[in-house]
Amino acid sequence: MNKKYRKTVIAGNWKMNKTPSETKEFMNQLKAILPKGRWCDVALCVPAVCIPAAVRAMRETRVGIGAENCNANASGAYTGEIATNMLTDAGCKYVIIGHSERRAMGETDADVNAKVLAALEAGLVPIMCCGESLEQREADITEEWISMQIKLGLAGVPEDKVRKVVIAYEPIWAIGTGRTATPEQAEEVCNSIRAVVRKLYSSKNARAISILYGGSMNEKNAFELLAQPDIDGGLIGGASLVPEKFVQIIEAANQPTV
Ligand code: 13P
Repeated sequence: MNKKYRKTVIAGNWKMNKTPSETKEFMNQLKAILPKGRWCDVALCVPAVCIPAAVRAMRETRVGIGAENCNANASGAYTGEIATNMLTDAGCKYVIIGHSERRAMGETDADVNAKVLAALEAGLVPIMCCGESLEQREADITEEWISMQIKLGLAGVPEDKVRKVVIAYEPIWAIGTGRTATPEQAEEVCNSIRAVVRKLYSSKNARAISILYGGSMNEKNAFELLAQPDIDGGLIGGASLVPEKFVQIIEAANQPTV
């Protein structure tokens, strides 16, 4: 992290877990144990039907609620889809875009790009995900692959909006596997993502953009991962489902940085 130049963001991704009633229960438990005073930005991205319960419960707090996906179109005949203005109207601040689990269902870089642009237009903070497979890491093409995902995902994002995008680096082999990237491995890729942003935009934007790590981040390994200079937070799956664990990760993000 480098709190002087950019925001630290701890974001939960609930994936397909918890009902609206369970959401209410979780949020009330979380509220009771949230650290007091100044801390990093905290987001919880929840299943669409849980958004109203989450927004209602966290209204008086600094926790922002987000969605796990959106559709890039403004409205129309897209059965089952949710537009960005519906999310903002429901009280969302964030939206996860291009998670590897959605890419595995057929989402392309062009889809990711259209969604990022739509989210920015609506005033949402897009949490744009990227990440390599184990085969790609072993073939030593991680950097090229991630660089391509970032370039395609950010295409057309104007210079004055790019720092609103939060990038999440999530190596696919580390998601839900308990196999975390080492702090050095995660730092290396997050640093290279910042270099791509520098090349595409400017040093100022590269310095200001928040880059998160995701993939088996938990209350035990968060401190060390967040101590890396280019890791500005986490996108947390499993550990964000347990209030105590999630709070411990927020506390790890409160560590002093240079
Ligand atoms: P886990 O923390 O469960 O590995 O999930 C990571 C993730 O995919 C967050 O988006």
